[in-house]
Amino acid sequence: MNILGIIGYPIGHSLSPLMHNTAIKHLGLDYIYLPFEVKKEDIALAVGGVKGLGIKGINVTIPYKETVIPYLDGMDESAGLIGAVNTIKLEGDKLKGYNTDGMGFLQSIKIDAQEDVKGKKVILFGAGGAARAIAIQIALEGAEEIIIANRTIEKGEKLTEYINKKLKAQSSKLKAQSSKLKAQIEYFRKADIIVNTTSVGMKSSDTPLFPYNYISDRHLICDIVYRPLETDLLREASKRGAKILNGLGMLIYQGSLSFKIWTGYEMPVEVVRKTLMEELKS
Ligand SMILES: NC(=O)c1ccc[n+]([C@@H]2O[C@H](COP(=O)([O-])OP(=O)(O)OC[C@H]3O[C@@H](n4cnc5c(N)ncnc54)[C@H](OP(=O)(O)O)[C@@H]3O)[C@@H](O)[C@H]2O)c1
Repeated sequence: MNILGIIGYPIGHSLSPLMHNTAIKHLGLDYIYLPFEVKKEDIALAVGGVKGLGIKGINVTIPYKETVIPYLDGMDESAGLIGAVNTIKLEGDKLKGYNTDGMGFLQSIKIDAQEDVKGKKVILFGAGGAARAIAIQIALEGAEEIIIANRTIEKGEKLTEYINKKLKAQSSKLKAQSSKLKAQIEYFRKADIIVNTTSVGMKSSDTPLFPYNYISDRHLICDIVYRPLETDLLREASKRGAKILNGLGMLIYQGSLSFKIWTGYEMPVEVVRKTLMEELKS
């Protein structure tokens, strides 16, 4: 029996065990995927334990995506650029870090929304871990402009600087800037894609990130929140004729990329989607 798993804190609400065990069962593989709740002071022991116990691979979630890096033997290009790891694979006796979050988002845009970010103007709300992975991936994909809009303006500026520095040689078309967008409707008039990478929308009492009347039918509105599947932002965007994309696709595709890295198998994405939708609706 091969062991896979996820480390984080807390871990109780993670959908990853259900997602991966559904795929494992469907394909009849000799694997099991387990949740491990790890305290901050035990993170070195936990990552070392992957190697020591011969665990084939793990996902890493909040708050350890950056913390695990010093304990790895190497990282792939994407994780190196993003500066965070959501997937670790035991390769021989070496631990290698990957980041599938940004690519998972991109696949959801391409497959679920049937859209392309190349040449597009994007407004990205948030400047946390998910924003960093998504911003870097869409910049590499050739987005024309990315505006990082964050509640704490300094964090938005720091992320903008980080991306511009990291991607200098690779994406001359990238023009990221920090901005308090609340009163600046002209950004919205020019934007093609608007992405919420903050946790706003998880509670119905959350204050909207921007006035919904800025949304029009020229926009693709993406919310990476998947609890609930339909946030206020998506509901309001739909009413205004915009195309919408929820966070379930990103969750599934980042998982399917990790699954392929560990097992070599394609995740049965539609089987997994059905199971997760049932779970999220219950
Ligand atoms: N669909 C998926 O597969 C997927 C993958 C990863 C994450 N997510 C979801 O994405 C969200 C963010 O994750 P993360 O890892 O990036 O978290 P994070 O690193 O903690 O960043 C959170 C971001 O949200 C902003 N924020 C939080 N509350 C806000 C509020 N009330 N108003 C405005 N901005 C607010 C923060 O702004 P400040 O800088 O001002 O604090 C920060 O930019 C979570 O809900 C997570 O579940 C989904």
